Amino acid sequence: MHNSIKQMFELERQGVSRQTTANVASNFRSHSTSVESQVKENSFENIFIQGGFNVKPLVIETIEENQDLLRTDDRKGKEYKVEIKDGSNVNIDESSNETLSGSRILKSTHEREVSEVEKEAWKLLREAVVNYCGNPVGTVAAIDPADKQPLNYDQVFIRDFVPSALAFLLKGEGDIVKNFLLHTLQLQSWEKTVDCYSPGQGLMPASFKVRNMPLNGRDGEFEDVLDPDFGESAIGRVAPVDSGLWWIILVRAYGKITGDYSLQERVDVQTGMRLILNLCLSDGFDMFPTLLVTDGSCMIDRRMGIHGHPLEIQALFYSALRCSREMLIVDDSTKNIVAAINNRLSALSFHIREYYWVDMKKINEIYRYKTEEYATDAINKFNIYPDQIPHWLVDWIPETGGYFIGNLQPAHMDFRFFTLGNLWTIISSLGTNKQNEGILNLIDDKWSDLVAQMPLKICFPALEHEEWRIVTGGDPKNTPWSYHNGGSWPTLIWQFTLACIKMGRPELARKAVALAENKLSVDQWPEYYDTRYGRFIGKQARLHQTWTIAGYLTSKMLLDHPELASTLFWNEDYELLENCVCGLGKSGRRKCSRLVARSQIAA
Ligand code: GLC
Repeated sequence: MHNSIKQMFELERQGVSRQTTANVASNFRSHSTSVESQVKENSFENIFIQGGFNVKPLVIETIEENQDLLRTDDRKGKEYKVEIKDGSNVNIDESSNETLSGSRILKSTHEREVSEVEKEAWKLLREAVVNYCGNPVGTVAAIDPADKQPLNYDQVFIRDFVPSALAFLLKGEGDIVKNFLLHTLQLQSWEKTVDCYSPGQGLMPASFKVRNMPLNGRDGEFEDVLDPDFGESAIGRVAPVDSGLWWIILVRAYGKITGDYSLQERVDVQTGMRLILNLCLSDGFDMFPTLLVTDGSCMIDRRMGIHGHPLEIQALFYSALRCSREMLIVDDSTKNIVAAINNRLSALSFHIREYYWVDMKKINEIYRYKTEEYATDAINKFNIYPDQIPHWLVDWIPETGGYFIGNLQPAHMDFRFFTLGNLWTIISSLGTNKQNEGILNLIDDKWSDLVAQMPLKICFPALEHEEWRIVTGGDPKNTPWSYHNGGSWPTLIWQFTLACIKMGRPELARKAVALAENKLSVDQWPEYYDTRYGRFIGKQARLHQTWTIAGYLTSKMLLDHPELASTLFWNEDYELLENCVCGLGKSGRRKCSRLVARSQIAA
């Protein structure tokens, strides 16, 4: 099927006469470590704003290649003071080292019949498709038949569209994904302000809406207008840090599944990627390689006490960096950013593997920590007081297995288990192989807590009583075991499936899918479930929630075609482990702690 999909896209591409780029792409992916951009797009669409901030109609016009976007980028461009360690790992075709541990991946031997539930899901997914100027550009978050107040659920959310995109890609329908990627890219450079302050240029919106507006001065005529939300109307006015990261991840997935690499080579796509990376990699006051964000800047988009360095953002950041490293065309203007990416990747994985991981042994270590250590070689670097170990964890942590904690700050470890972050540490190989196996062991072991009646808990356990009041600000939507506060989100099944396939345990994913599938259809595809064991449809859950539907379909297709799933995850990159930027050699006064840690990874 993989080949046939690729052939289909190949034919389609030839049909629209963009002949030149594919060869260039495959060539540099196989052989070259540093190439000039050879994109031969004749034109690309440029969309600009008419009439200032509040009126945002789009005008699409054809312009010559290599124009404004690059110049804008240069204006914004900054110098990275990071040395290029070794560019040899850049833009090489990964297919050679993507040989999966073959025997662990089950090949589907027969095409099975599509079930009634799947047929229903496909019908609903297609109904959720949004058109812009006659072309499909995304899917709305939900079309709840009973909902009189859709709030912003009638918008296309960047993060929600990812499982829809994968479902379409795996089915061989790439156009909607390509349109989505190009249109959201245009929104990136939108002028955006919250009370006279403008966030960075690379910011991607959380969502956008297609509005049909009356045409100025043309009675009775209408035009489609894209209207993005960068957080300026979102509840809490939070910038969606994850949107840009998901966008990069999707650009790569599009190339991998369709075989059409010309999209990622386009000048505007390369520039968009760089703008996002510029935002993420810019210097600040940080002492750590993790991204510092406010509460609610990801899937959990309300106050839940995850400000700081939440795992979800770090795992998506790491994945987006790995994607960019594969896709960025290396030339004089990008070599610094590529070096910065390499350095950040290795520092980030070290930091997360060392400081976010907990298992029985580590918790016992923390339990016995000395505090107030003032020295560079302190064991308890973040001055964690042992009293912080929550009571639930002492009994809960299994003898084998472990997980990455939700957040790490001075004197603060958030020990809650956050599912999305842990799944993406597996998918992107942010964790070591042993840690990744440990996470799945823990999910297996704690099935009744983390999967229960409906896969999967967004986080575990829920904040209750006074803690709920203080941490959420008394949020009535995030009461204990509801919504973001320990609710169960069926959309997470696709990422669980991907992680299970990667680790050679598809049977775990099958078990979760089987649990969900009949219930989801009977319950009309709710957004989330409530209660300790996920038994009730969520208090305010939308029905016909698109990413619930798409997540289910994507899981089914990934399980049927694990060879396609393999294009969506990463294995350990040993070159990254070799890269150490701290400058402390083995013989230095202080030892580089990475060297010590590396031996543990190899073990
Ligand atoms: C909720 C979720 C968010 C999602 C949005 C649309 O706000 O928290 O992750 O993108 O709904 O479904």
